[in-house]
Amino acid sequence: MPHPFDALTADAMRAGGSWKWSGSGVGGGVDAHGRGLIGAFVAEMDFPTAGPVADAVRASADASRFGYLADAWVADLAAACAAFWADRFNWSVDPERIRPVPDVMTALVATIEHFTPPGTPVLLPTPAYMPFLTVPGRLGREMVPVPMSRDPFALDVDALDAAFAASGSRLLVLTNPHNPTGRVFTADELAGITAVVERHGARVFADEIHAPLTFDGRVHVPYASTSDTAAAHTITATSASKAWNLPGLKCGQVILSNAADAARWSERGYLAEHSTATPGVLASTAAYVHGREWLDDVLTYLDGNRARLRDTPLPGVGVTVPEGTYLAWLDGTALDLDEPPSAFFAREAGVVMTDGAACAGPGGMRLNLAMGRPVLAEALERMAAALG
Ligand SMILES: Cc1ncc(COP(=O)(O)O)c(C=O)c1O
Repeated sequence: MPHPFDALTADAMRAGGSWKWSGSGVGGGVDAHGRGLIGAFVAEMDFPTAGPVADAVRASADASRFGYLADAWVADLAAACAAFWADRFNWSVDPERIRPVPDVMTALVATIEHFTPPGTPVLLPTPAYMPFLTVPGRLGREMVPVPMSRDPFALDVDALDAAFAASGSRLLVLTNPHNPTGRVFTADELAGITAVVERHGARVFADEIHAPLTFDGRVHVPYASTSDTAAAHTITATSASKAWNLPGLKCGQVILSNAADAARWSERGYLAEHSTATPGVLASTAAYVHGREWLDDVLTYLDGNRARLRDTPLPGVGVTVPEGTYLAWLDGTALDLDEPPSAFFAREAGVVMTDGAACAGPGGMRLNLAMGRPVLAEALERMAAALG
């Protein structure tokens, strides 16, 4: 039976006017064959959000809940997030330790500013989510890229150890599930990080925004849940925004896993919390409580899209089918083009992906799989044809 998402068309998406379908030249642009461009860059899904989320936004409008955040709404969000994380990831967090922020980016900025010594650099495994490469610099901090090992992508513990020692950094940004490689790190891999971080008296900013999006029976392991030591040096940030597709509603959550950080956050976190959107809090609460069935359906659908990628030969392109997230990493270095492979596929196939260079992974491309399957199929067929 066809899935309702199968009815999503590129024309309808373009008419919707999202950034994904209007930005990066996608709106109104055509490829070398005169075909409309397919927006496969920014990390949001083409799928309409869950019914309970849309209902919560409508209810906010009906009741004019556009005022400042009430404590009771924050408490409801924290309880809903805690229950979801306990049920889904087997990590029990005191809801008092879950605080609202507008987004994960704001949580990172607050962590750098309030939880690391002034002027210290920030370590970032690469390839990485694009803005993380530049945010430390905007705060007057050096960003130290630490290349992941490859085939398969993995955190390079020795390289992290050396980078901590050489730079004097006190913060590792650990994205899991990982954007853009799609890795879902195992408990053993995460445990390997803890000793290194501890040895350098450092902290971890655990970006777990993609936590619900894992495949093939993998279950997300929250880094702070792996040991008391990890809990004591970690600030976790998450959001319903990726899994339920509501990044514009501006609500994320910070999870504080030790008393000292919770106390510091209550002193310093005010500004970070302040721009959280009330409708976003109400919608995120609805997602965690009433959106689980929708999420499971989306995961099944995305899994079908992963299969589609796996089954499409793209000669010369190294394809990493994601273990988690809906972002696939494609390595085009072996194509030996005299331009970035993303530019080649934008022109020759009309598929607009994130250029790997923007992730500190030159030669690579980040392909967003979260489209209606016929649109994804067309994108992949065009790419295969471009390779000739
Ligand atoms: C790994 C990762 N972290 C953070 C973000 C940004 O999240 P937010 O919109 O909550 O700042 C994204 C968005 O794509 C992401 O993929």
